[in-house]
Amino acid sequence: MIQVELIKDLKENINIAKTANKTIGFVPTMGYLHEGHMALVSQARNENDFVVMSIFVNPAQFGPNEDLGRYPRDLERDKKMAIEAGVDLLFYPQEEEMYPKDGGISIQAGRLANVLCGATRAGHFDGVLKVVTKLFHLIEPTRAYFGQKDAQQLAIIETLVRDYNFPLEIRRVETVREEDGLAKSSRNVFLSKEERMQAPAIYQALQLGINHYMNTRKSGKAMQETLQHIEKFTSGKIDYVGFLSYPDLTSDLEEASTVIMAVAVYFEKARLIDNIIINKEV
Ligand code: PAJ
Repeated sequence: MIQVELIKDLKENINIAKTANKTIGFVPTMGYLHEGHMALVSQARNENDFVVMSIFVNPAQFGPNEDLGRYPRDLERDKKMAIEAGVDLLFYPQEEEMYPKDGGISIQAGRLANVLCGATRAGHFDGVLKVVTKLFHLIEPTRAYFGQKDAQQLAIIETLVRDYNFPLEIRRVETVREEDGLAKSSRNVFLSKEERMQAPAIYQALQLGINHYMNTRKSGKAMQETLQHIEKFTSGKIDYVGFLSYPDLTSDLEEASTVIMAVAVYFEKARLIDNIIINKEV
């Protein structure tokens, strides 16, 4: 596996792959890799000649009171996992390399960021678009891979690529879960033993809510079921339970063929998110 920290070394290797007419599959991450990230790599591996992964804990997407400083990091372990998964090129820049100057121009996610996580994490998705746009331009991937675990992020990136004609394909990858249903996340390490035992109730709650909706088509009652289950079985504090069309994230569930029920729950040291996306017609 080629390992580079500098943009010039990255570009050199990308140019070699492009000259050889290789298709490039790109997996952007913030590291502290787990099986969720690995599912993205494995799909990228299957669909492309050359697989690039980035590891960069992007300061631009963390708010002032969020967990940038204590976001888990273990580069050596990540490198081993990336090699095992068949990554061809790993790019892990320092902050100064990614953001040497601020020219004052920003990219704004707009109305898709007014709901769900965007409503409590002001500027978060603008920061995601900032780094993702830079990475897309540096790596020039044929396809880039994103997890449905971060469904709002995925919807916003798909919209950016569609509306601004970015020359690449966005590929969706299903959420990878622990055996008890908890969505895998780098932040799960921050759960206390008790919280970890309670956390599977989040996915159960989503399943209950979605089943209720599919049987009754009553979205308000379905969201209430979800909310009550989380409140009953966890000590977490609910940030939101949202039920929207997907991927356009409107409240018009009647018209939508695909819908998302999404939740965010604050535990003592971690804010966890999860969702279920479902086609109403099946
Ligand atoms: P990170 O949280 O490291 O996630 C990197 C990618 O892995 C994202 O596309 C995310 O949706 C996916 N992922 C995480 N957990 C998953 C799971 N359990 N199942 C499937 N996919 C999962 O998301 C980010 O980093 C950043 O915002 C980034 C896009 C890299 C921009 O900084």
